[in-house]
Amino acid sequence: MLRLSNGYEFDIATASGALGYGRGWWWEEFFLIPLGVIRPEAFTIITKTLTKLPRVGNLKWWCPWRCVRLLGGGNVVNAVSLTNPGMEWWIREGYPKYVQQNKQNTIVSIMPENESDAALMGTFLRMQRDIKGVEVNVSCTNVKSVSLDQKIDHAVKIVMAVQRTCGHPVGVKLGWQDPYLFITKELEGVIEWVDLINTVPWDYVFPHKKSPLAKYGLTGGVSGPKIAPFARQCLDLVVDSKVRVPVLSGGGINSYQELNRRFKKAAAVTLGSPFLTAPHLPNQMERRWRRHGRMQAMREGRSAGEYVGRVTQSPTPSSGGSTQVRGFLLQGRRLPMKQRLISVPLSDGEVNVTLKEKGKTKQLCLPAIKINDDMDAEHVVEIIQKALPWIEGDMEIEDI
Ligand SMILES: Cc1cc2nc3c(=O)[nH]c(=O)nc-3n(C[C@H](O)[C@H](O)[C@H](O)COP(=O)(O)O)c2cc1C
Repeated sequence: MLRLSNGYEFDIATASGALGYGRGWWWEEFFLIPLGVIRPEAFTIITKTLTKLPRVGNLKWWCPWRCVRLLGGGNVVNAVSLTNPGMEWWIREGYPKYVQQNKQNTIVSIMPENESDAALMGTFLRMQRDIKGVEVNVSCTNVKSVSLDQKIDHAVKIVMAVQRTCGHPVGVKLGWQDPYLFITKELEGVIEWVDLINTVPWDYVFPHKKSPLAKYGLTGGVSGPKIAPFARQCLDLVVDSKVRVPVLSGGGINSYQELNRRFKKAAAVTLGSPFLTAPHLPNQMERRWRRHGRMQAMREGRSAGEYVGRVTQSPTPSSGGSTQVRGFLLQGRRLPMKQRLISVPLSDGEVNVTLKEKGKTKQLCLPAIKINDDMDAEHVVEIIQKALPWIEGDMEIEDI
């Protein structure tokens, strides 16, 4: 689970470009979504990347195959080159429609060209209060970029300018061919996630093969299972390097097994090309993960303390001055139903959580939680949920 400083949390997002600005391509918007094959509300939407001004790129809606090709086996090559209607359009039309009207949890992906554009785009986004975060794409395979040694400096400056001005949690998207470890390290404390990876340039994946886009003078970047080993390598390197930035791992996740595997190290994942190649798959995987995968991960002791279960509250009449939390997972151990009970005495100041297991009582002190007398029940539940994210089950407020 990726927890952002504004309190928003998510585990599965759509990769930038996968569902456009929230509703995808025309066949997704008018057929697959109304038919329920794709349910965008189950995901956090990372928008298609926006530039400051509209950008023509290579995508023509009447002949998309000139820059997007299915390769078989769930793989795709694209050389869209950031075709997009620009930030002004998104603020005028995209934000009211997708974020305000459809209430989609949205992270806006942007690609500023330089520091001053970054500050300007950040300032525009500051006013879009309902977005959940901003992802700075400094990686696009299909755009001529600065040389490698300039890239770190360029990326760091741009991301910092966005973070200074936008007032939302900021992440960065990087590619396998980028100096991602250096950039992430430099941005520790500034960014709240690193999204790895973007498409991998064709020649790295198929060194001895001509791209099907070559006849249009393009090569493109590859998505799908072929790039899974590249994505896993990046994930392992960043996590094992102990850089303290959570990884949002994407690239080649087109089976439940792969999704489960990524969650061993990633805080959250993105799904991209399966929306194009097997549109039923993203929601199928998401449902399975939410039903079984997170539980399994906790049982195995993975992501201990990172699991966020569903907590439902049922405030009960005043009695006894404690809050009871039932049905929870604690640090990877699943406790049998009858043996557990947490009571959280609510008083001004710190909160002590008492865990009763097999008749024995354990105390957990949570000094980070401050509860004031004037807080209402809902507020207190919210605070406890945030502090005890591994709790699953019913939370009963008995007295506040
Ligand atoms: C048609 C298409 C358009 C894309 N557009 C963007 C984009 O605008 N910004 C971006 O950061 N990544 C873009 N991507 C890359 C995806 O977000 C994702 O990183 C990549 O496809 C790898 O993930 P996957 O294997 O799950 O598809 C695009 C990919 C495709 C296939």
